[in-house]
Amino acid sequence: MRGGPPGSLASMAQVSDERAKNRSASLRRLTTEFAPYGPKLVLLFFFVILGAVTQAGGPWLVGRAIDENIIKGDPGLTTRMLELLGIYLIGTLMSRQQTMLVGDVSQRVLSDLRERLFKQLQRLPLAYFDKRPIGDLMSRLLNDVDTLNQLFSQGITQLLGSLFGLTGILIAMLVLNVPLALVSFLVIPVMLLTTAFFAARARAAFRKTRETVGDVTADIQEEIVGVREAQAFNRTNENISRFRTRNAANRDANVSAVGITSAFSPSIELLATLATALVIGYGGYLTLNNQLSVGLLTAFLLYVQQFFRPIQLLSSIYTQAQSALAGAERIYAILDETPETQDSASSQVLPTITGRIQFSGVGFAYNAGRNVLSEIDLSIEAGQTVALVGSTGAGKTTLASLIPRFYDATTGSLKIDGIDVRDVTRHSLRSQIAFVLQEPFLFSGSIGDNIRYGKLDASQIQLEEAASAVNALEFIKALPQGFDTVLGEGGGTLSQGQRQLISFARAVIANPRILILDEATANVDTRTEALIQRALETLLQGRTSVVIAHRLSTIERADKIVVLEAGRIVERGTHAELLAANGRYAELHRRQFRAPTPAVVAPAMARA
Ligand code: UTP
Ligand code: MG
Repeated sequence: MRGGPPGSLASMAQVSDERAKNRSASLRRLTTEFAPYGPKLVLLFFFVILGAVTQAGGPWLVGRAIDENIIKGDPGLTTRMLELLGIYLIGTLMSRQQTMLVGDVSQRVLSDLRERLFKQLQRLPLAYFDKRPIGDLMSRLLNDVDTLNQLFSQGITQLLGSLFGLTGILIAMLVLNVPLALVSFLVIPVMLLTTAFFAARARAAFRKTRETVGDVTADIQEEIVGVREAQAFNRTNENISRFRTRNAANRDANVSAVGITSAFSPSIELLATLATALVIGYGGYLTLNNQLSVGLLTAFLLYVQQFFRPIQLLSSIYTQAQSALAGAERIYAILDETPETQDSASSQVLPTITGRIQFSGVGFAYNAGRNVLSEIDLSIEAGQTVALVGSTGAGKTTLASLIPRFYDATTGSLKIDGIDVRDVTRHSLRSQIAFVLQEPFLFSGSIGDNIRYGKLDASQIQLEEAASAVNALEFIKALPQGFDTVLGEGGGTLSQGQRQLISFARAVIANPRILILDEATANVDTRTEALIQRALETLLQGRTSVVIAHRLSTIERADKIVVLEAGRIVERGTHAELLAANGRYAELHRRQFRAPTPAVVAPAMARA
């Protein structure tokens, strides 16, 4: 490596250089997010300036009241007081308007960012999700956007107000009396140094608290998701003790962070007292020598009190901005991921198909170098049912996933009705295919909504027909709310068999030309098993079906059985042919495929 061996100072410097570059790039991009709100920002700027002027004007008015109305005895003290009241009222109003405007603009920017993130997640290739823990993605969508939210909603208003307020005050002081102003400014460098000193330590401490709280959150999340396993394997005590350690680390990090910040405010107060003493001392000297009026001295005392708050704020905003920028960096990292390769301009809309599928010399690798599928040659005629069998990890799900282009073949070609799937738009391809996944996901929502997922505009009658076609109508009708029964997350309130029937109904209502069914291995009761078997018959009827089959009944009925082993087709033929050949299928058959229980077989045989 050019930057020296990893861990060397040179390489570390490079890393932090890189990070700084990313930060400033993120900052620039974040700034451009505000561009569409130009006019509102101009208005904001106006409010900020007006606010700063009122902030600087107050003490000046107080000074004049003392000098002219109180000491000299000019009339008009009441007017002065009213002016003062007016100026503070305007100040308050400006500050309220600033907060409102910043809130309005920043919430728009944030909701826009969230929407872009969500869209991006929908468009990312499945391979992206294979490699990332859900918790991490969730945290990016929620926490990182939230750190930005905190910076925008609190930080930015304060930052702008403080910065301009401070400038106003400094200018006013210089205008009123240069020597006294300069003496008062003496504390500023000391204060900046103190702030920098504390900020550096506080940053490190807060980084530690964020890391440890991340561990704690991850632990809690896993615990909730895996609560059944934890209880089943008696891991609760181990988990509690692991949680205790992490929780303690988080507590210690927070305590030490508080230790640092708690020393900060008193130090600043000490400096504020010092500044007041300087003004009283030097200002008093000037006043005694008739070089400064009492009123101006008072005004200075008020100004000095005011310039500490902005500086304190600036330091806290700096910390906030750091973590917000880190969040922005992670957000942009997602937005910059290449979405699923877009349909090229030459992609055509796939016409209505008959459903002939042809794999020619197809190879596929999730990770370059390790082929999961090799040299797959397979023709499936329109309307045929093909059963894919093979031991676990053989590549069955992968093979099926190529048909709707969840992934693209690495080598070879896949044609539907003679058209290469890479030449058609994904939308037109997927609208003619239904995929019943190995572990179908039901969304939280009603049963009706879940079935309608396959065809959004389905009528109630179509809904009932689909449910009835897969024998789900009976159990749905038996539920107190019928189709309106609301499911828990993942369909938790239904049995596994019932969930499968719902996912079948979802496929039936979509009425696809091609059906891909990754049969779940789950054992269900014999009655449900019988329902599922009959549902499957309906489901497979009249369309090209690729079934990753575990049920003997499904396999026996298939027009063709394809045996996969380590990503290659090792055998193909009908059930009878393959049994006769006494090869791999016959072996799998003996070991793996259990016939349904006699109670279920009986009616099926009676029909045959
Ligand atoms: P499959 O998921 O295609 O196997 O993975 P399968 O035949 O359907 O297995 P069962 O019956 O459902 O259990 C095939 C190979 O691809 C790898 C797996 O490790 C396996 O060796 N794989 C799968 C990946 O590398 N990445 C993935 O995202 C999925
Ligand atoms: Mg599988």
